[in-house]
Amino acid sequence: MKQPKRYLVTSALPYANGPVHIGHLAGVYVPSDIYVRYLRGRGEDVLSICGSDEHGVPITIKAKKEGVTPQDVVDKYNGIIKEAFRRFGISFDIYSRTSSPMHAKTASDFFKKLYEQGDFIEQTTEQYYDPEAQQFLADRYITGTCPKCQSEGAYGDQCEKCGSTLSPTELINPKSAITGATPVLKETKHWFLPLNRYEAFLREWILKEHGPENGGGHEVWKSNVYGQCKSWLDGGLLPRAVSRDLDWGIPVPVPGAEGKVLYVWFDAPIGYISATKERFEQRGDAEGWRPDWQAPATKLGHFIGRDSIVFHCIVFPSMLKAHGDFILPENVPANEFLNLENDKISTSRNWAVWLHEYLDEFPGKEDVLRYVLCANAPETKDNDFTWRDFQARNNNELVAIFGNFVNRALVLTGKYFDNRVPALGELTDYDRETIEEIPRIKAAIEHNIENYRFREALKEMMNLARLGNKYLADTEPWKVIKTDEARVATILNISLQITASLAIACEPFLPFTAKKLAAMINLSSVEAKWDNIGCMTLLAPGHELGQAELLFEKIEDSVVEAQLAKLEATKAANAAANATVAEAKAEVVQFDDFAKMDIRVSRVVAAEPVPKTKKLLKLTVDTGLDTRTIVSGIAEYYTPEQMVGKRVLVLVNLVPRVLKGIESQGMILMAESPTGVLSVVAPVAEDEESALKAAPVGSVVG
Ligand code: 2FM
Ligand code: ZN
Repeated sequence: MKQPKRYLVTSALPYANGPVHIGHLAGVYVPSDIYVRYLRGRGEDVLSICGSDEHGVPITIKAKKEGVTPQDVVDKYNGIIKEAFRRFGISFDIYSRTSSPMHAKTASDFFKKLYEQGDFIEQTTEQYYDPEAQQFLADRYITGTCPKCQSEGAYGDQCEKCGSTLSPTELINPKSAITGATPVLKETKHWFLPLNRYEAFLREWILKEHGPENGGGHEVWKSNVYGQCKSWLDGGLLPRAVSRDLDWGIPVPVPGAEGKVLYVWFDAPIGYISATKERFEQRGDAEGWRPDWQAPATKLGHFIGRDSIVFHCIVFPSMLKAHGDFILPENVPANEFLNLENDKISTSRNWAVWLHEYLDEFPGKEDVLRYVLCANAPETKDNDFTWRDFQARNNNELVAIFGNFVNRALVLTGKYFDNRVPALGELTDYDRETIEEIPRIKAAIEHNIENYRFREALKEMMNLARLGNKYLADTEPWKVIKTDEARVATILNISLQITASLAIACEPFLPFTAKKLAAMINLSSVEAKWDNIGCMTLLAPGHELGQAELLFEKIEDSVVEAQLAKLEATKAANAAANATVAEAKAEVVQFDDFAKMDIRVSRVVAAEPVPKTKKLLKLTVDTGLDTRTIVSGIAEYYTPEQMVGKRVLVLVNLVPRVLKGIESQGMILMAESPTGVLSVVAPVAEDEESALKAAPVGSVVG
């Protein structure tokens, strides 16, 4: 593979409609930061680009909800996100925003070039329009039932439940997210990028050049990324609208486009280019961005989450190809999703660990979170973050291995050699074996980082600390000191050189720790270069060490319990909110209406499935008044065997109905749990007499 001259690393631009959480960090920002820090350590020419994604419907919806302007929303969250990244040590070379004038011009010029080249299809189509709000409903302004998985609340562009990409007209029972009105179809003109025209190019570029069996000239993409691309390509590509009827965004810069803006997924990735330009402009080098985006010797990589694979691998590359002046990414190392305590992270349910809150609650523990998120990164499949695991990894790995090793090496040097690096004497075979391990570990870290396997790379970094820990445990300098000081000098010299290597090797993963550790051993930034890992003269004999401090401290149970309690409180608040919504939804009935219902505790005496149906059971019930037949849609929840003998509540004076040819003479009452599971209602003890007239029951659904 060709050695790149420079690296350009982009990290997905977070929407400025909320703060970032651990899912974003584990999926995108921790891996990209490890990658760029590693490259910088190697002395490579690397640029790390990010910024806020400030257009699109999510921003306008948030603004409506909060009763403020979209500009207020993006100003607020851009500030929060940027500051949180800075505090967390995410080392972007620039964190820009897509509301910048530079971006408006870059994205506008991009669109105009494609327009002038005739790369768009201009088409008038029918799109959903909210007659009450008097506006077209783009993407998330429209919700309905997902046609693929039948779940409620799917958006016009995507179902978050099953991950399908949708178009608004596919939704079942569409509703306006603004007014709740049923939308009508109305004609509107838009510009479409005919992705089908780029299919041949994409097939060649993705499937051949970056596929599992490429010729070695290019990087092979991760299987989750490749798999998604292949299925898009195999499904056939269609023209995609790149404009929207909205009043928030970059105006479509061509005649006859009043009231229309660029689709957020058209402008956002161009944000990577604008941010690069801005970064060079700030340094008085307005043309300096060109090699990064135009020289084939640049290696461009997009770090993203799995939900934006199609945009970075299919749509944006087609745009870049059409434009013609820019390079294509060499890799798109997308991660899967991180869950929190076995539940999907959700902004709307506040089920998340928010970065800015973590930083406030865990001062000085930035690296602990970086460590845990990398160790658990959802690189090949979804993964789970739990506070217990956070505690265990801190206490059993960072404290017990890394911190323990460094502390012992430093404290013993202080104690026996006046805090100066002792001289290296004669080496034993075991010393040599230990020393030889270091370059092997270094190579393994490099190989894994370069192949986007950050979890493995982290494990190898910890193997360096393990190596040191084991070396000290095996050589026992605290015992040997009584008889052989020269031997202890050698042991501690080796331990300190390992410590120095560790200070360099941990920097991409644990930058705060690396800095602290470098200060503790007085390692200069000139010496702290990646290629010096394994050098056994990093700390010369006689070199004075700095002040030893504890690198990591134990996390107590109470800390974890407090976080779990916080999540429990979130759960309770969500359940209460759901209950309120459910109550608010129920129509009010008068007591007289309720009193008309004759509800009786009845015993099921026989039950059998209704042939050719999945949901229905034919039940014979003894109501105390009579024995009657009821056809109930209960089969999803109970087998006939489970029903026989059960006491249930039956509405006995319901008008009979014929279902599948059987007359149903009443209805079994069921209650719905917060998670949507139905169960029969039988509120009296089994040994009570039947034919009791039931007392009114709360929230009962038929
Ligand atoms: O999914 C998101 O959060 C998008 N804002 C990512 C945009 S990445 C790029 F295209 F800018
Ligand atoms: Zn779905």
